[in-house]
Amino acid sequence: MKLISTGSALCVVGVVLGSAVGWRAEAAAIQGTSLTSRTPRRGGNPEAAKLQNPVAGTPESIAGGQRTYKLLCARCHGIEGRGDGGGAGAGGQPADFTDAVWDFGGSDGEIFMAIHDGTSADMESYAERLSQTEIWHLVNYLRTLHKR
Ligand code: HEC
Repeated sequence: MKLISTGSALCVVGVVLGSAVGWRAEAAAIQGTSLTSRTPRRGGNPEAAKLQNPVAGTPESIAGGQRTYKLLCARCHGIEGRGDGGGAGAGGQPADFTDAVWDFGGSDGEIFMAIHDGTSADMESYAERLSQTEIWHLVNYLRTLHKR
């Protein structure tokens, strides 16, 4: 009796873990990045949230982020960050950075990881196109678009 209930409890844990890992493995495969504990997750990822932003949100940092944003991001997310750039060819809805919602978590670390790893066929990984410092500048810039 005891053995059976332990077995079924283990089984439930296995199914829950299995589906969580499966979902993340699938997301990483779409993005072409390797699966880590910080892989972006819809609803947020506490491990990614632990990453500290090493770049202060100075006017210089924000201006640098804005330059990169105009070059690489505005075509989908829109010049004002409203998600209305129209460039998402794979059918995704680019995030609106002016609303209060962060689908992949609103901490600096989670926003960093969404840009670094990517989240979908449209929202690709920028790990090979941008340095980590450039991504932190983007995080600092995106924060200025966000309504308080
Ligand atoms: C080809 C279109 C496209 C480009 C270019 C693009 N994105 Fe995205 N982005 C999207 C889409 C679509 C989503 C929503 C993805 C999802 O739901 O999985 C998204 C989501 C995001 C998110 C997650 C937002 C949230 O609510 O948690 C961030 C952060 C982000 N993009 C930042 C950027 C930055 C910074 C750049 C430029 C370096 C960029 N994106 C370039 C299409 C794009």
